[in-house]
Amino acid sequence: MKSKKISLNYEVYDSAEELTDDLRKLLKEAKLAIAKSYAPYSGFQVGAAARLVNGAMVSGANCENASYPLCICAEPATLAAAASAHPGVAVRALAISVKNKLRPVEKPTPPCGACRQMLVEHEDRFDQPIQLILQGGDETVYVFERVRDLLPLHFSGDFL
Ligand code: THU
Repeated sequence: MKSKKISLNYEVYDSAEELTDDLRKLLKEAKLAIAKSYAPYSGFQVGAAARLVNGAMVSGANCENASYPLCICAEPATLAAAASAHPGVAVRALAISVKNKLRPVEKPTPPCGACRQMLVEHEDRFDQPIQLILQGGDETVYVFERVRDLLPLHFSGDFL
């Protein structure tokens, strides 16, 4: 038997003020995108902003439905918006900001498993890591260099 270990590195900032100008702008855009959220059922609003390799910025938000499984998370909404506006152009960074109408969200909120799978497919497809910038209700910011680190041993088209 062999035992293997997977470890994860990420950066923690006390405030967005410590980020580079580009990441701070992207996070600001993600915060603004919260206004686009349609979340009448959960009250959990998610805004996301993507920076593409051509420099463009595209944002999106979660969109819920009375038939709950049809809810669309902010991350795929933003990827789809980016693919529609800039077909074939890779995303290189994605900022995510959240607001819960029911109670304050303290910690930065990481993307759900399904969103990670979608983001990793994008990374694989374009051979381009997507830097993730996460902020919750407090000032703390987490930065991950690539999404695949958050989805170790991920499933991909290589298995098909
Ligand atoms: N949500 C996202 O937009 N992204 C995630 O990664 C997790 C969850 C949304 C879906 C739903 O509208 C609400 O948050 C509560 O789950």
